[in-house]
Amino acid sequence: MRKSLPAALAALVAVGALARPPEVPEAVFKRCATCHGEQGESIAEDFPRLAGQHEAYLAKELDDFRAGRREGPMVRMARGLTDAHVAALAKYYASQPVPPPAPKTELHDVGRYLYRKGNPWSGVPACKACHGEAARGTEKLPALAGQHAAYLEREIREFTSRARTNDNEVMHTVSQKLTALEVRALAEYLASLP
Ligand code: HEC
Ligand code: HEC
Repeated sequence: MRKSLPAALAALVAVGALARPPEVPEAVFKRCATCHGEQGESIAEDFPRLAGQHEAYLAKELDDFRAGRREGPMVRMARGLTDAHVAALAKYYASQPVPPPAPKTELHDVGRYLYRKGNPWSGVPACKACHGEAARGTEKLPALAGQHAAYLEREIREFTSRARTNDNEVMHTVSQKLTALEVRALAEYLASLP
């Protein structure tokens, strides 16, 4: 039978996806999956999507949680992971297909403007300068495209309040100039990008 176009595309996208990392004990992998999903697609808005995120960034964040440099609920989850687990998990999630983005909202164009141009009147720099034209980031810089809006919004606030404790110098400077509306518009815009 001929496959429908979306099914054929999904199959194509999934080609590079790795199977479950054998280095990581089943129980650990299952625990991650309860929040982040089997393929890093995430089961709810509060849990970041890991699928398609950069491998080096994922490994660095896991390392920061392990060392307590990035604080929060993940510190407990990352405790006990070995270097080999961190490397295998980062590689696994990075190779998974990026889940479909959220629908566009009324704030889309506001978010798009801010992302591309910043807010020259209040001194917010363009996010695009670091996170890239398509918000796919670089090795050490997180991709933001298709991430859950609720997660993005919370992280931006936590950069402002310094509740996010790792490497927050740059993002603290950027985020403290954003208004609540701007944060929401950016989050909704980014969540809708493929
Ligand atoms: C109980 C739910 C839960 C479980 C279980 C869990 N996580 Fe998380 N994870 C979160 C939350 C919530 C965040 C956002 C953390 C924050 O903002 O402090 C997060 C963040 C992360 C991040 C950073 C993502 C980013 O974009 O910066 C990585 C990587 C990660 N988790 C990997 C894992 C791995 C690997 C496991 C299994 C060992 C795991 N998580 C288990 C809830 C969970
Ligand atoms: C000068 C470079 C730079 C600019 C400009 C910048 N960022 Fe960032 N951003 C970073 C870096 C570096 C990190 C990674 C921090 C880390 O390693 O934990 C980051 C992390 C983030 C995260 C956390 C992602 C995650 O998965 O946890 C969000 C959300 C974010 N930036 C949003 C924005 C938005 C929105 C803008 C524009 C208003 C912006 N950034 C502008 C450098 C930048």
